[in-house]
Amino acid sequence: EETRSWKKMINVAVSGAAGMISNHLLFKLASGEVFGPDQPIALKLLGSERSIQALEGVAMELEDSLFPLLREVSIGIDPYEVFQDAEWALLIGAKPRGPGMERAALLDINGQIFAEQGKALNAVASRNVKVIVVGNPCNTNALICLKNAPNIPARNFHALTRLDENRAKCQLALKAGVFYDKVSNVTIWGNHSTTQVPDFLNARIDGLPAKDAIKDHKWLEEEFTETVQKRGGALIQKWGRSSAASTAVSIVDAIRSLVTPTPEGDWFCTGVYTNGNPYGIAEDIVFSMPCRSKGDGDYELVKDVIFDDYLRQRIAKTEAELLAEKKCVAHLTGEGIAVCD
Ligand code: LMR
Repeated sequence: EETRSWKKMINVAVSGAAGMISNHLLFKLASGEVFGPDQPIALKLLGSERSIQALEGVAMELEDSLFPLLREVSIGIDPYEVFQDAEWALLIGAKPRGPGMERAALLDINGQIFAEQGKALNAVASRNVKVIVVGNPCNTNALICLKNAPNIPARNFHALTRLDENRAKCQLALKAGVFYDKVSNVTIWGNHSTTQVPDFLNARIDGLPAKDAIKDHKWLEEEFTETVQKRGGALIQKWGRSSAASTAVSIVDAIRSLVTPTPEGDWFCTGVYTNGNPYGIAEDIVFSMPCRSKGDGDYELVKDVIFDDYLRQRIAKTEAELLAEKKCVAHLTGEGIAVCD
């Protein structure tokens, strides 16, 4: 006899569902560790013609796992079908970069995908769908996606920078000799690229400013910053492919940060639309910034952050990069002719 009370089922769409990241992510989504133990879900998996066999295999494995919360699994290659009534869209499918490439080299190839998927979301998804763009270059892909989905609030689109936040926390904890849970208030500003700015000015370790806990400020400015900026590339060198397991974990973290209240005094970062931001960052781009959530899927930007010249200069650099990327995809955002440097 059914005695538990279940919430209403939610539809979660995942693109790139036959890929490596999804292979880690889907089983976490189905297990309840993301949306909670009382939240039934339907997984709607988007693949490509090339991956459809593998996608069928993924669906079979999900079914064989007998997850009590997983009420439906459907697969398809048409985003207009798969995104129907989606309340979450996790957009992972894209061409990944290889060794020695910068993520921006993928702008044109992947930009097309996100224009198409933005249109599909606009047409068939829930009017309040939350979209997390993972495929690179994720900030500009998220911008392309939201521009093609004018009927969905722009603030609902995220570019995944949680992986960078986690990487930064790991490095700070290692250097300070503390467990990572002592590291809080970490922001990655800007682009998910090598210009990203891991913010050690506002970060805290055991409640103290990170700069008090770590006296080696040269390390913070140089080694720490560069390690975090280049971590994705370093992993590609090791694996011969981009990170998958830690990316999936960070997607889980990113969603959980939006569906659970942010702990008092802390924040998380995510790449979001800049209109109305209090930091003086250029409007009309997708930029990673510090946020808090009440746990309702929405968020607000954190106001009490401090800046110094170092931070301002670095932020200006990543901002300039995003403005240049935006010019380069004008043909995909409906804003004219692309101008690429
Ligand atoms: C990462 O940061 O690991 C991913 O964005 C993959 C990449 O291209 O670095």
